[in-house]
Amino acid sequence: MYKVLYRAYRPEVFKEMLGQEHIVNILRNQIEKDTVNHAYLFCGTRGTGKTSAARLLAKGVNCTAEGERPCGVCENCKAIKEGNFIDIVEIDAASNNGVDNIRELRESVKYPPAKGKKRVYIVDEVHMLTKSSFNALLKTLEEPPEHVIFVLATTEPEGLPATILSRCMRMDFRRVPENTIVSGMKKICQEQKVQASEDALRLIAMNADGSVRDALTLLDQCIAGKNGTLERNDVLRSLGTVGEEVFIKMTDKVAMHDPSGGMILIEKALEEGKDPRQIMKGWMFHYRNLLLTKYMKDPADMLNMSTENIERIREQSTRLDLEEINNGIIELAGIIAESKWSAQPRILLELCMVRMAARGAKGPFADPSLSREINTNVKANQIPKKENENDKKTPETELKGGLALDKVWQCIFEDGEAKKGSFNVIRKSAALESMTSDEFIISASNGVFGVVESNREIIENLMEKHTGTRRRMKCIAKNGNCSNNDNGKEEVTASQLEDILGTDNIEIL
Ligand SMILES: Nc1ncnc2c1ncn2[C@@H]1O[C@H](COP(=O)(O)OP(=O)(O)OP(=O)(O)O)[C@@H](O)[C@H]1O
Ligand SMILES: [Mg+2]
Ligand SMILES: [Zn+2]
Repeated sequence: MYKVLYRAYRPEVFKEMLGQEHIVNILRNQIEKDTVNHAYLFCGTRGTGKTSAARLLAKGVNCTAEGERPCGVCENCKAIKEGNFIDIVEIDAASNNGVDNIRELRESVKYPPAKGKKRVYIVDEVHMLTKSSFNALLKTLEEPPEHVIFVLATTEPEGLPATILSRCMRMDFRRVPENTIVSGMKKICQEQKVQASEDALRLIAMNADGSVRDALTLLDQCIAGKNGTLERNDVLRSLGTVGEEVFIKMTDKVAMHDPSGGMILIEKALEEGKDPRQIMKGWMFHYRNLLLTKYMKDPADMLNMSTENIERIREQSTRLDLEEINNGIIELAGIIAESKWSAQPRILLELCMVRMAARGAKGPFADPSLSREINTNVKANQIPKKENENDKKTPETELKGGLALDKVWQCIFEDGEAKKGSFNVIRKSAALESMTSDEFIISASNGVFGVVESNREIIENLMEKHTGTRRRMKCIAKNGNCSNNDNGKEEVTASQLEDILGTDNIEIL
Protein backbone atom coordinates (compact mmCIF):
# COMPACT_ATOMS: atom_id res chain seq x y z
CA MET A 1 0.00 0.00 0.00
CA TYR A 2 1.26 3.45 -0.84
CA LYS A 3 1.91 5.60 2.20
CA VAL A 4 1.91 9.34 1.67
CA LEU A 5 5.40 10.74 1.94
CA TYR A 6 4.94 12.78 5.08
CA ARG A 7 3.79 9.66 6.91
CA ALA A 8 6.42 7.44 5.38
CA TYR A 9 9.17 9.89 6.25
CA ARG A 10 8.65 10.85 9.86
CA PRO A 11 12.07 11.36 11.49
CA GLU A 12 12.92 8.24 13.51
CA VAL A 13 16.23 9.48 14.90
CA PHE A 14 17.41 13.01 15.70
CA LYS A 15 19.68 13.29 12.70
CA GLU A 16 16.69 12.89 10.40
CA MET A 17 15.11 16.06 11.74
CA LEU A 18 15.39 18.90 9.26
CA GLY A 19 16.29 22.20 10.86
CA GLN A 20 15.29 22.85 14.49
CA GLU A 21 18.92 22.37 15.56
CA HIS A 22 18.39 24.63 18.58
CA ILE A 23 15.79 22.17 19.88
CA VAL A 24 17.43 18.96 18.76
CA ASN A 25 20.66 19.86 20.56
CA ILE A 26 18.95 20.48 23.86
CA LEU A 27 16.81 17.35 23.73
CA ARG A 28 19.71 15.14 22.69
CA ASN A 29 21.79 16.48 25.50
CA GLN A 30 19.07 16.08 28.11
CA ILE A 31 18.39 12.50 27.03
CA GLU A 32 22.07 11.67 27.16
CA LYS A 33 22.59 13.24 30.58
CA ASP A 34 19.27 11.98 31.88
CA THR A 35 18.13 15.47 32.75
CA VAL A 36 14.86 15.64 30.87
CA ASN A 37 12.15 17.96 32.17
CA HIS A 38 8.72 16.97 33.36
CA ALA A 39 6.84 19.16 30.97
CA TYR A 40 7.57 20.67 27.58
CA LEU A 41 5.65 23.01 25.39
CA PHE A 42 6.39 22.66 21.69
CA CYS A 43 5.14 25.69 19.77
CA GLY A 44 5.36 26.78 16.18
CA THR A 45 4.04 26.68 12.63
CA ARG A 46 2.25 23.62 11.35
CA GLY A 47 4.27 20.81 9.91
CA THR A 48 7.64 21.85 11.31
CA GLY A 49 8.26 18.80 13.48
CA LYS A 50 6.53 19.28 16.85
CA THR A 51 4.83 15.90 16.98
CA SER A 52 7.87 14.26 15.44
CA ALA A 53 10.15 15.78 18.09
CA ALA A 54 7.74 14.75 20.84
CA ARG A 55 7.98 11.16 19.64
CA LEU A 56 11.76 11.39 19.38
CA LEU A 57 11.87 12.54 22.98
CA ALA A 58 9.52 9.75 24.05
CA LYS A 59 11.66 7.25 22.21
CA GLY A 60 14.88 8.71 23.51
CA VAL A 61 13.92 8.29 27.17
CA ASN A 62 12.71 4.75 26.59
CA CYS A 63 15.42 3.60 24.17
CA THR A 64 17.53 0.74 25.50
CA ALA A 65 20.54 1.35 23.26
CA GLU A 66 23.97 2.19 24.64
CA GLY A 67 25.00 4.93 22.25
CA GLU A 68 22.96 7.68 20.69
CA ARG A 69 19.31 7.60 21.77
CA PRO A 70 16.84 7.07 20.26
CA CYS A 71 18.55 4.41 18.20
CA GLY A 72 15.49 3.67 16.10
CA VAL A 73 16.16 -0.08 16.06
CA CYS A 74 15.79 -1.43 19.61
CA GLU A 75 12.56 -3.12 20.59
CA ASN A 76 11.17 -0.07 22.35
CA CYS A 77 12.07 2.29 19.49
CA LYS A 78 10.38 -0.05 17.02
CA ALA A 79 7.27 -0.44 19.15
CA ILE A 80 6.98 3.34 19.48
CA LYS A 81 7.38 3.75 15.75
CA GLU A 82 4.57 1.26 15.15
CA GLY A 83 2.40 2.99 17.73
CA ASN A 84 2.31 -0.14 19.90
CA PHE A 85 4.13 1.12 22.95
CA ILE A 86 1.81 1.17 25.90
CA ASP A 87 3.68 3.89 27.82
CA ILE A 88 3.33 6.54 25.17
CA VAL A 89 -0.08 8.17 25.23
CA GLU A 90 -1.02 10.55 22.46
CA ILE A 91 -4.02 12.77 23.05
CA ASP A 92 -5.51 14.94 20.39
CA ALA A 93 -7.05 17.81 22.28
CA ALA A 94 -8.91 18.90 19.16
CA SER A 95 -10.92 15.70 19.02
CA ASN A 96 -14.25 15.25 20.74
CA ASN A 97 -13.01 12.98 23.44
CA GLY A 98 -10.20 15.28 24.48
CA VAL A 99 -11.95 16.05 27.76
CA ASP A 100 -12.42 12.41 28.64
CA ASN A 101 -8.84 11.69 27.76
CA ILE A 102 -7.57 14.33 30.13
CA ARG A 103 -9.76 12.94 32.88
CA GLU A 104 -8.38 9.47 32.28
CA LEU A 105 -4.92 10.93 32.19
CA ARG A 106 -5.32 12.24 35.73
CA GLU A 107 -6.06 8.73 36.87
CA SER A 108 -3.42 6.94 34.88
CA VAL A 109 -0.44 9.16 35.73
CA LYS A 110 -0.27 7.59 39.17
CA TYR A 111 0.77 4.21 37.86
CA PRO A 112 4.35 3.50 36.88
CA PRO A 113 5.16 2.72 33.25
CA ALA A 114 4.47 -0.85 32.21
CA LYS A 115 7.39 -1.47 29.89
CA GLY A 116 9.52 1.61 29.57
CA LYS A 117 11.40 3.97 31.87
CA LYS A 118 9.00 6.86 31.50
CA ARG A 119 5.43 7.26 30.50
CA VAL A 120 5.14 10.11 27.99
CA TYR A 121 1.93 11.99 27.39
CA ILE A 122 1.84 13.90 24.13
CA VAL A 123 -1.05 16.34 24.05
CA ASP A 124 -1.43 17.72 20.54
CA GLU A 125 -3.33 20.93 19.75
CA VAL A 126 -3.36 21.66 23.44
CA HIS A 127 -4.84 25.13 22.90
CA MET A 128 -8.11 23.38 21.98
CA LEU A 129 -8.73 22.07 25.47
CA THR A 130 -11.78 23.29 27.34
CA LYS A 131 -11.39 25.25 30.53
CA SER A 132 -12.21 22.27 32.73
CA SER A 133 -9.67 20.14 30.86
CA PHE A 134 -7.02 22.80 31.35
CA ASN A 135 -7.73 22.75 35.05
CA ALA A 136 -7.50 19.00 35.16
CA LEU A 137 -4.23 19.10 33.22
CA LEU A 138 -2.89 21.81 35.48
CA LYS A 139 -3.40 19.67 38.57
CA THR A 140 -1.24 16.92 37.09
CA LEU A 141 1.36 19.40 35.90
CA GLU A 142 1.68 20.83 39.39
CA GLU A 143 2.95 17.65 40.92
CA PRO A 144 3.92 15.25 38.18
CA PRO A 145 5.18 11.87 39.33
CA GLU A 146 8.85 11.10 38.61
CA HIS A 147 8.05 8.60 35.89
CA VAL A 148 5.93 10.95 33.76
CA ILE A 149 6.79 13.41 31.00
CA PHE A 150 4.33 15.77 29.35
CA VAL A 151 4.80 17.18 25.90
CA LEU A 152 2.18 19.73 24.98
CA ALA A 153 2.17 20.79 21.34
CA THR A 154 0.41 23.76 19.84
CA THR A 155 0.45 26.15 16.91
CA GLU A 156 -1.15 28.78 19.15
CA PRO A 157 0.71 29.25 22.42
CA GLU A 158 -1.11 32.58 22.89
CA GLY A 159 -4.23 30.53 23.54
CA LEU A 160 -2.75 28.91 26.63
CA PRO A 161 -3.28 30.04 30.22
CA ALA A 162 -0.23 31.49 31.94
CA THR A 163 -0.49 28.83 34.61
CA ILE A 164 0.24 26.16 32.01
CA LEU A 165 2.97 28.17 30.27
CA SER A 166 4.84 28.73 33.50
CA ARG A 167 5.08 25.01 34.20
CA CYS A 168 6.57 23.97 30.88
CA MET A 169 9.91 24.26 29.18
CA ARG A 170 8.96 26.10 26.04
CA MET A 171 10.56 25.33 22.68
CA ASP A 172 9.74 27.29 19.59
CA PHE A 173 9.85 25.40 16.31
CA ARG A 174 10.93 27.54 13.38
CA ARG A 175 10.00 27.41 9.77
CA VAL A 176 12.54 25.17 8.14
CA PRO A 177 14.83 27.02 5.69
CA GLU A 178 14.14 26.31 2.03
CA ASN A 179 17.63 25.00 1.39
CA THR A 180 17.20 22.49 4.20
CA ILE A 181 13.84 21.38 2.87
CA VAL A 182 15.35 20.97 -0.59
CA SER A 183 18.13 18.74 0.67
CA GLY A 184 15.61 16.67 2.62
CA MET A 185 13.50 16.22 -0.50
CA LYS A 186 16.56 15.29 -2.55
CA LYS A 187 17.20 12.35 -0.25
CA ILE A 188 13.61 11.23 -0.46
CA CYS A 189 13.65 11.48 -4.26
CA GLN A 190 16.76 9.35 -4.39
CA GLU A 191 15.11 6.69 -2.27
CA GLN A 192 11.95 6.90 -4.35
CA LYS A 193 14.01 6.71 -7.54
CA VAL A 194 12.69 10.00 -8.78
CA GLN A 195 14.95 12.19 -10.89
CA ALA A 196 14.02 15.63 -9.65
CA SER A 197 15.49 18.82 -11.01
CA GLU A 198 16.91 21.34 -8.57
CA ASP A 199 14.53 23.96 -9.93
CA ALA A 200 11.51 21.78 -9.28
CA LEU A 201 12.49 21.08 -5.68
CA ARG A 202 13.24 24.73 -5.05
CA LEU A 203 9.84 25.73 -6.31
CA ILE A 204 8.21 23.21 -4.01
CA ALA A 205 10.23 24.41 -1.03
CA MET A 206 9.43 28.01 -1.86
CA ASN A 207 5.74 27.23 -1.82
CA ALA A 208 5.88 25.14 1.34
CA ASP A 209 6.73 28.29 3.25
CA GLY A 210 8.84 26.54 5.85
CA SER A 211 6.54 23.60 6.50
CA VAL A 212 8.17 20.25 5.81
CA ARG A 213 4.81 18.54 5.79
CA ASP A 214 3.49 20.91 3.14
CA ALA A 215 6.61 20.35 1.08
CA LEU A 216 6.23 16.58 1.21
CA THR A 217 2.53 16.76 0.41
CA LEU A 218 3.30 18.88 -2.60
CA LEU A 219 6.13 16.60 -3.65
CA ASP A 220 3.72 13.69 -3.42
CA GLN A 221 1.22 15.42 -5.68
CA CYS A 222 3.87 16.36 -8.17
CA ILE A 223 5.36 12.91 -8.58
CA ALA A 224 2.03 11.10 -8.59
CA GLY A 225 1.36 9.67 -12.03
CA LYS A 226 4.85 10.53 -13.23
CA ASN A 227 7.36 7.86 -14.00
CA GLY A 228 10.47 8.79 -12.19
CA THR A 229 11.09 12.37 -13.24
CA LEU A 230 10.15 15.71 -11.78
CA GLU A 231 10.58 18.98 -13.61
CA ARG A 232 9.73 22.52 -12.72
CA ASN A 233 6.77 22.41 -15.08
CA ASP A 234 5.27 19.45 -13.23
CA VAL A 235 5.39 21.52 -10.07
CA LEU A 236 3.84 24.50 -11.77
CA ARG A 237 1.03 22.31 -13.00
CA SER A 238 0.35 20.98 -9.52
CA LEU A 239 0.58 24.37 -7.93
CA GLY A 240 -1.85 26.03 -10.26
CA THR A 241 0.53 28.94 -10.45
CA VAL A 242 2.63 30.45 -13.18
CA GLY A 243 6.34 30.67 -13.61
CA GLU A 244 8.58 33.57 -12.78
CA GLU A 245 8.84 34.66 -16.40
CA VAL A 246 5.12 35.44 -16.54
CA PHE A 247 5.37 37.62 -13.44
CA ILE A 248 8.28 39.44 -14.99
CA LYS A 249 6.21 40.11 -18.11
CA MET A 250 3.16 41.19 -16.13
CA THR A 251 5.28 43.64 -14.18
CA ASP A 252 6.74 44.95 -17.42
CA LYS A 253 3.26 45.69 -18.68
CA VAL A 254 2.54 47.65 -15.52
CA ALA A 255 5.76 49.61 -15.93
CA MET A 256 4.92 50.35 -19.56
CA HIS A 257 1.40 51.45 -18.61
CA ASP A 258 0.01 48.82 -20.90
CA PRO A 259 -3.08 47.41 -19.21
CA SER A 260 -4.35 45.59 -22.27
CA GLY A 261 -1.03 43.79 -22.72
CA GLY A 262 -1.22 42.80 -19.08
CA MET A 263 -4.77 41.57 -19.48
CA ILE A 264 -3.71 39.33 -22.33
CA LEU A 265 -1.09 37.70 -20.11
CA ILE A 266 -3.61 37.12 -17.36
CA GLU A 267 -6.12 35.76 -19.84
CA LYS A 268 -3.56 33.29 -21.14
CA ALA A 269 -2.61 32.05 -17.69
CA LEU A 270 -6.23 31.59 -16.72
CA GLU A 271 -6.96 29.76 -19.94
CA GLU A 272 -4.24 27.30 -19.00
CA GLY A 273 -6.23 26.64 -15.87
CA LYS A 274 -4.16 28.64 -13.41
CA ASP A 275 -5.82 29.82 -10.27
CA PRO A 276 -6.33 33.60 -10.02
CA ARG A 277 -5.62 33.59 -6.27
CA GLN A 278 -2.35 31.77 -6.82
CA ILE A 279 -1.42 34.26 -9.51
CA MET A 280 -2.04 37.15 -7.12
CA LYS A 281 0.14 35.55 -4.47
CA GLY A 282 2.87 34.68 -6.89
CA TRP A 283 2.86 38.14 -8.36
CA MET A 284 3.07 39.77 -4.97
CA PHE A 285 5.96 37.47 -4.16
CA HIS A 286 7.61 38.67 -7.32
CA TYR A 287 7.26 42.30 -6.21
CA ARG A 288 8.71 41.36 -2.85
CA ASN A 289 11.65 39.79 -4.68
CA LEU A 290 12.09 42.98 -6.69
CA LEU A 291 12.25 44.91 -3.45
CA LEU A 292 14.84 42.55 -2.00
CA THR A 293 17.06 42.63 -5.07
CA LYS A 294 16.92 46.38 -5.12
CA TYR A 295 18.31 46.55 -1.62
CA MET A 296 20.44 43.50 -1.15
CA LYS A 297 23.84 42.97 -2.58
CA ASP A 298 23.56 39.22 -2.49
CA PRO A 299 19.88 38.30 -2.34
CA ALA A 300 20.40 34.67 -3.46
CA ASP A 301 19.88 33.24 0.04
CA MET A 302 16.68 35.17 0.52
CA LEU A 303 15.25 34.53 -2.91
CA ASN A 304 15.90 30.83 -3.17
CA MET A 305 15.68 30.81 -6.91
CA SER A 306 17.74 29.74 -9.79
CA THR A 307 20.54 32.15 -10.53
CA GLU A 308 18.96 32.85 -13.90
CA ASN A 309 15.73 34.00 -12.33
CA ILE A 310 17.53 36.09 -9.76
CA GLU A 311 19.40 37.78 -12.58
CA ARG A 312 16.13 38.48 -14.41
CA ILE A 313 14.59 39.93 -11.29
CA ARG A 314 17.63 42.05 -10.63
CA GLU A 315 17.53 43.40 -14.16
CA GLN A 316 13.88 44.30 -13.80
CA SER A 317 14.37 45.90 -10.41
CA THR A 318 16.86 48.35 -11.85
CA ARG A 319 14.18 49.59 -14.23
CA LEU A 320 11.61 50.21 -11.50
CA ASP A 321 11.68 52.81 -8.81
CA LEU A 322 10.91 52.11 -5.22
CA GLU A 323 7.49 53.70 -5.37
CA GLU A 324 6.40 51.49 -8.24
CA ILE A 325 7.48 48.39 -6.37
CA ASN A 326 5.78 49.51 -3.18
CA ASN A 327 2.58 50.27 -5.02
CA GLY A 328 2.61 46.82 -6.54
CA ILE A 329 2.95 45.18 -3.15
CA ILE A 330 0.23 47.32 -1.62
CA GLU A 331 -2.22 46.79 -4.49
CA LEU A 332 -1.68 43.05 -4.56
CA ALA A 333 -1.82 42.63 -0.79
CA GLY A 334 -5.15 44.44 -0.95
CA ILE A 335 -6.73 42.16 -3.53
CA ILE A 336 -5.32 39.04 -1.93
CA ALA A 337 -7.14 39.97 1.26
CA GLU A 338 -10.27 40.93 -0.67
CA SER A 339 -10.25 37.79 -2.78
CA LYS A 340 -10.68 35.62 0.29
CA TRP A 341 -14.27 36.75 0.47
CA SER A 342 -14.89 37.20 -3.20
CA ALA A 343 -16.51 34.74 -5.57
CA GLN A 344 -14.87 36.63 -8.43
CA PRO A 345 -11.12 36.59 -7.82
CA ARG A 346 -10.50 36.75 -11.55
CA ILE A 347 -12.16 40.13 -11.84
CA LEU A 348 -10.23 41.43 -8.86
CA LEU A 349 -7.01 40.34 -10.51
CA GLU A 350 -7.91 41.95 -13.82
CA LEU A 351 -8.97 45.13 -12.18
CA CYS A 352 -5.78 45.20 -10.19
CA MET A 353 -3.77 44.90 -13.39
CA VAL A 354 -5.63 47.84 -14.90
CA ARG A 355 -5.24 49.93 -11.79
CA MET A 356 -1.56 49.19 -11.45
CA ALA A 357 -0.82 49.80 -15.12
CA ALA A 358 -2.81 53.02 -15.04
CA ARG A 359 -1.12 54.33 -11.92
CA GLY A 360 1.43 56.92 -12.72
CA ALA A 361 0.31 56.91 -16.33
CA LYS A 362 -0.36 60.35 -17.64
CA GLY A 363 -3.86 59.32 -18.63
CA PRO A 364 -7.23 60.02 -17.09
CA PHE A 365 -6.81 57.10 -14.71
CA ALA A 366 -4.35 59.26 -12.89
CA ASP A 367 -7.27 61.45 -11.93
CA PRO A 368 -9.60 59.36 -9.79
CA SER A 369 -12.64 61.53 -10.44
CA LEU A 370 -12.31 61.06 -14.17
CA SER A 371 -11.68 57.35 -14.00
CA ARG A 372 -14.90 56.94 -12.10
CA GLU A 373 -16.69 58.86 -14.78
CA ILE A 374 -15.30 56.64 -17.49
CA ASN A 375 -16.27 53.65 -15.49
CA THR A 376 -19.90 54.61 -15.37
CA ASN A 377 -19.91 54.79 -19.14
CA VAL A 378 -18.36 51.42 -19.52
CA LYS A 379 -20.43 49.86 -16.84
CA ALA A 380 -23.62 50.74 -18.59
CA ASN A 381 -21.92 49.24 -21.63
CA GLN A 382 -23.13 52.03 -23.80
CA ILE A 383 -21.60 53.83 -26.63
CA PRO A 384 -20.98 57.28 -25.23
CA LYS A 385 -24.04 59.42 -25.78
CA LYS A 386 -23.98 61.75 -28.73
CA GLU A 387 -25.10 65.19 -27.94
CA ASN A 388 -27.70 66.78 -30.18
CA GLU A 389 -26.85 68.46 -33.45
CA ASN A 390 -26.87 72.00 -32.10
CA ASP A 391 -24.25 71.28 -29.48
CA LYS A 392 -22.16 69.49 -31.96
CA LYS A 393 -19.93 72.29 -33.04
CA THR A 394 -19.51 73.83 -29.62
CA PRO A 395 -15.85 73.43 -28.79
CA GLU A 396 -15.15 72.02 -25.37
CA THR A 397 -11.88 73.37 -24.18
CA GLU A 398 -12.34 71.82 -20.75
CA LEU A 399 -13.31 68.20 -20.42
CA LYS A 400 -15.33 66.72 -17.64
CA GLY A 401 -13.05 66.03 -14.74
CA GLY A 402 -11.14 69.21 -15.47
CA LEU A 403 -8.78 67.87 -18.08
CA ALA A 404 -7.65 70.67 -20.32
CA LEU A 405 -6.87 70.24 -24.00
CA ASP A 406 -3.18 70.83 -23.62
CA LYS A 407 -3.09 68.22 -20.89
CA VAL A 408 -4.89 65.71 -23.04
CA TRP A 409 -2.49 66.41 -25.87
CA GLN A 410 0.42 65.93 -23.56
CA CYS A 411 -0.93 62.51 -22.63
CA ILE A 412 -1.51 61.56 -26.22
CA PHE A 413 1.93 62.27 -27.45
CA GLU A 414 3.64 60.74 -24.45
CA ASP A 415 1.58 57.63 -24.80
CA GLY A 416 2.07 57.62 -28.56
CA GLU A 417 5.75 58.16 -28.27
CA ALA A 418 6.05 54.99 -26.26
CA LYS A 419 4.45 53.14 -29.14
CA LYS A 420 6.01 54.89 -32.07
CA GLY A 421 9.04 57.10 -32.52
CA SER A 422 7.35 59.44 -34.99
CA PHE A 423 5.25 60.94 -32.24
CA ASN A 424 8.04 63.19 -31.24
CA VAL A 425 7.59 64.94 -34.56
CA ILE A 426 3.87 65.31 -33.97
CA ARG A 427 4.43 66.76 -30.56
CA LYS A 428 6.67 69.50 -31.87
CA SER A 429 4.61 70.59 -34.81
CA ALA A 430 0.99 69.79 -34.08
CA ALA A 431 -1.54 70.90 -31.48
CA LEU A 432 -4.95 69.90 -30.29
CA GLU A 433 -7.07 72.89 -31.21
CA SER A 434 -10.53 71.98 -30.07
CA MET A 435 -12.82 69.14 -29.30
CA THR A 436 -16.54 68.53 -29.69
CA SER A 437 -18.59 65.60 -28.60
CA ASP A 438 -17.66 63.61 -31.67
CA GLU A 439 -14.58 65.12 -33.20
CA PHE A 440 -11.31 66.76 -32.31
CA ILE A 441 -9.28 69.13 -34.39
CA ILE A 442 -5.56 68.96 -34.72
CA SER A 443 -3.58 71.65 -36.39
CA ALA A 444 -0.34 70.66 -37.99
CA SER A 445 2.24 72.46 -39.98
CA ASN A 446 2.53 71.41 -43.59
CA GLY A 447 5.56 69.27 -43.01
CA VAL A 448 4.01 67.01 -40.43
CA PHE A 449 0.53 66.98 -41.82
CA GLY A 450 1.16 63.59 -43.38
CA VAL A 451 2.70 62.21 -40.24
CA VAL A 452 -0.37 63.16 -38.25
CA GLU A 453 -2.67 61.75 -40.88
CA SER A 454 -0.80 58.49 -41.12
CA ASN A 455 -1.20 58.09 -37.38
CA ARG A 456 -4.91 58.79 -37.45
CA GLU A 457 -5.93 55.45 -36.02
CA ILE A 458 -3.44 55.56 -33.18
CA ILE A 459 -4.32 59.12 -32.31
CA GLU A 460 -8.03 58.42 -32.36
CA ASN A 461 -7.49 55.39 -30.17
CA LEU A 462 -5.36 57.33 -27.75
CA MET A 463 -7.85 60.17 -27.61
CA GLU A 464 -10.53 57.69 -26.80
CA LYS A 465 -8.37 56.12 -24.16
CA HIS A 466 -7.62 59.44 -22.54
CA THR A 467 -11.06 61.00 -22.73
CA GLY A 468 -13.35 58.01 -22.57
CA THR A 469 -15.17 58.92 -25.78
CA ARG A 470 -14.57 57.87 -29.35
CA ARG A 471 -14.09 60.90 -31.58
CA ARG A 472 -12.94 61.38 -35.11
CA MET A 473 -9.80 63.32 -35.85
CA LYS A 474 -9.95 66.32 -38.07
CA CYS A 475 -6.64 67.65 -39.11
CA ILE A 476 -6.23 71.22 -40.22
CA ALA A 477 -3.01 72.48 -41.60
CA LYS A 478 -1.61 75.51 -39.88
CA ASN A 479 -1.85 77.29 -43.22
CA GLY A 480 -5.52 76.49 -43.46
CA ASN A 481 -5.62 73.27 -45.51
CA CYS A 482 -8.06 70.79 -44.21
CA SER A 483 -8.04 67.06 -44.13
CA ASN A 484 -11.24 65.33 -43.46
CA ASN A 485 -10.65 61.76 -44.19
CA ASP A 486 -14.11 60.30 -44.42
CA ASN A 487 -13.21 56.80 -45.37
CA GLY A 488 -15.33 54.97 -42.87
CA LYS A 489 -12.75 54.55 -40.14
CA GLU A 490 -15.61 54.67 -37.66
CA GLU A 491 -15.66 50.91 -37.49
CA VAL A 492 -12.22 50.85 -35.89
CA THR A 493 -11.72 48.21 -33.26
CA ALA A 494 -13.51 48.67 -29.98
CA SER A 495 -11.75 51.09 -27.71
CA GLN A 496 -8.83 49.98 -25.63
CA LEU A 497 -10.72 50.91 -22.57
CA GLU A 498 -13.71 48.80 -23.48
CA ASP A 499 -11.37 45.94 -24.17
CA ILE A 500 -9.99 46.34 -20.73
CA LEU A 501 -13.09 47.06 -18.76
CA GLY A 502 -15.60 45.57 -21.11
CA THR A 503 -17.46 43.59 -18.53
CA ASP A 504 -20.26 45.08 -16.52
CA ASN A 505 -19.06 43.43 -13.35
CA ILE A 506 -16.09 45.72 -13.17
CA GLU A 507 -15.98 48.69 -10.93
CA ILE A 508 -13.11 51.06 -10.38
CA LEU A 509 -13.12 51.65 -6.68
N1 LIG B 1 11.64 19.25 11.04
C1 LIG B 1 11.25 18.21 10.30
N2 LIG B 1 12.16 17.36 9.79
C2 LIG B 1 11.80 16.32 9.02
N3 LIG B 1 10.52 16.06 8.69
C3 LIG B 1 9.58 16.88 9.15
C4 LIG B 1 9.89 17.98 9.99
N4 LIG B 1 8.76 18.63 10.29
C5 LIG B 1 7.78 17.96 9.68
N5 LIG B 1 8.25 16.91 9.00
C6 LIG B 1 7.48 16.00 8.14
O1 LIG B 1 6.11 16.37 8.26
C7 LIG B 1 5.36 15.35 8.91
C8 LIG B 1 4.51 15.99 9.99
O2 LIG B 1 5.35 16.57 10.96
P1 LIG B 1 4.88 16.81 12.46
O3 LIG B 1 3.62 16.05 12.72
O4 LIG B 1 6.04 16.57 13.35
O5 LIG B 1 4.55 18.33 12.38
P2 LIG B 1 3.87 19.22 13.49
O6 LIG B 1 4.78 20.38 13.73
O7 LIG B 1 3.47 18.40 14.65
O8 LIG B 1 2.60 19.71 12.70
P3 LIG B 1 1.16 20.15 13.31
O9 LIG B 1 1.33 21.50 13.90
O10 LIG B 1 0.28 20.20 12.10
O11 LIG B 1 0.76 19.10 14.29
C9 LIG B 1 6.37 14.38 9.43
O12 LIG B 1 5.90 13.07 9.36
C10 LIG B 1 7.56 14.57 8.53
O13 LIG B 1 7.40 13.80 7.36
MG1 LIG C 1 1.62 17.77 15.33
ZN1 LIG D 1 16.24 2.49 20.65
